[in-house]
Amino acid sequence: MDSRISLVFSSLLLVCFLIHVSVYSIEPIPTLSIKAPGNCTYEAWNDVTQHTFRNETKYRKWGLSKKWQLKQSVSPVGLTLISAFVYNDSISVTTTFIGYKRVGRKVICRYFDCNREEIPNTEFESIIFPFAVVNCARRAHAKYISLMLPDEQSSKSIQPIPMTFRAFAEPLHEFGVCLGQFYGDTAKWLEIVESVESHRILGATMFYFVSIEVTMYDSQVFTYYDRLGLSETVHILMDHKPNYQFHELQQNECYYRSRQHSKWVLNVDLDERLMFNKKYSFVNFLRTLPANTGEITFSVARVVKRENNMEKYENNQTQLEENLLFLKYNETSDRGWGVPKGVFNPNLVHSLFYHFARLRDPSAIVLNVLPNIGYIRHYRTVVANTVASNWLEGYKVHNEPLDHDFAEELKRRVFLEVANIYNKKEMKCEDAAVEKLENLKMDGDSCVWKNGTRINK
Ligand SMILES: *[C@@H]1O[C@H](CO)[C@@H](O)[C@H](O)[C@H]1NC(C)=O
Ligand SMILES: *[C@@H]1O[C@H](CO)[C@@H](O)[C@H](O)[C@H]1NC(C)=O
Ligand SMILES: *[C@@H]1O[C@H](CO)[C@@H](O)[C@H](O)[C@H]1NC(C)=O
Ligand SMILES: *[C@@H]1O[C@H](CO)[C@@H](O)[C@H](O)[C@H]1NC(C)=O
Ligand SMILES: *[C@@H]1O[C@H](CO)[C@@H](O)[C@H](O)[C@H]1NC(C)=O
Ligand SMILES: *[C@@H]1O[C@H](CO)[C@@H](O)[C@H](O)[C@H]1NC(C)=O
Repeated sequence: MDSRISLVFSSLLLVCFLIHVSVYSIEPIPTLSIKAPGNCTYEAWNDVTQHTFRNETKYRKWGLSKKWQLKQSVSPVGLTLISAFVYNDSISVTTTFIGYKRVGRKVICRYFDCNREEIPNTEFESIIFPFAVVNCARRAHAKYISLMLPDEQSSKSIQPIPMTFRAFAEPLHEFGVCLGQFYGDTAKWLEIVESVESHRILGATMFYFVSIEVTMYDSQVFTYYDRLGLSETVHILMDHKPNYQFHELQQNECYYRSRQHSKWVLNVDLDERLMFNKKYSFVNFLRTLPANTGEITFSVARVVKRENNMEKYENNQTQLEENLLFLKYNETSDRGWGVPKGVFNPNLVHSLFYHFARLRDPSAIVLNVLPNIGYIRHYRTVVANTVASNWLEGYKVHNEPLDHDFAEELKRRVFLEVANIYNKKEMKCEDAAVEKLENLKMDGDSCVWKNGTRINK
């Protein structure tokens, strides 16, 4: 800095300092004595204490059943809290405490006020059930919740997390989607956009993502849809390589996240898309179902996916079109019931499993949809060195493209959103001060004049 300027600058500072001191002379406060601001505001809906949680008797019985012990399995991950939801009749905390062996284990729920201070004498003893989830009774004015394992002293330091409001009188969404399995090192962005847009055409208005292992590039899709209010993404902090049990973790996290938020929830993997005969509206179909419908299952057709997904979008629509899965792959198997997939009603199932509910309410009925009305298209890879990539042995496939109108609409939507997410948002050179354009060039950035000419590439 020029010495003249720096002199002026420091005198200015001095003046400010003098004015400041003379006007606001206060006693210094020792930092350590600063406490969280005093009183909490209490919302009427949160003025509820209950001595039990929803289905507690049944959950304790199920949770302590010996059948879980039979499924003993390694679970390398310790207890961390993912999220907590407060419903009308219970609180559910989802965790990373995976493993069948842990089901039924004793856990203490701890409740905290708006200042993150523990509310005295409110602890509640519960168990792990269903899978990596703990249900707790409600406590008036609790804003945060934590869990503790009575036999592990170190678990006392687990920090409380906020409770997400789910005590809606009616679910906000009629049809939501649990879209699963974001781990492994393949590029996922295009499959996510295709899947979201495909299910939006059917009427889905909410998507639940559990991000476990994705690149910064892929996660832009989550950020984009979250901002639009079309999705909720939860990020799992990982210090372990995910194993197959993370699939159940994802499904159970999604089950609780969707409960009282979406009325009907489709449970699919990233490579699976629900197809519904275009003569009927899927949402209208849902409206006609008997109230005690717990699950709706669909047959599955496998579609041969011969290559890995496109890595990155390069502002090239022709290239994108060549890589759209729903146009690229038409070799389809017959629709079969071997591994059905489906839609569930969160109020009538209690826990999810890979393909259907692990636990259904005794009052719930299950409907199977005729394959010519609706089915799942499963774009299953045959790329070598992937899980069960030799599945095609024993399958017969025929040429069966997507319905033409549906494919055209999906293409339009995918083009639009991929461009919204990944097209470079370039500035107009006119917006930069003339003398800054040289800096811009030096930094290797680009801009484009209104006449279309670009500076840099
Ligand atoms: C908290 O509320 C009490 C009772 O209304 C009041 O006396 C007190 O001043 C409040 N404290 C703060 C820090 O607002
Ligand atoms: C669970 O709770 C709901 C709501 O109170 C009730 O309708 C249902 O019958 C219960 N199910 C079981 C298995 O206890
Ligand atoms: C919430 O709970 C109260 C009392 O248990 C009950 O009267 C009310 O109907 C419940 N509301 C919903 C949406 O379940
Ligand atoms: C766009 O992609 C197509 C197909 O991959 C390719 O032939 C074409 O050269 C690309 N265009 C540009 C401008 O890179
Ligand atoms: C799949 O079918 C669609 C619709 O008929 C067609 O546009 C596309 O080119 C086909 N894909 C291949 C790889 O043959
Ligand atoms: C576009 O505008 C810029 C800035 O005025 C100018 O330098 C450039 O030559 C123009 N390009 C064309 C093709 O007119």
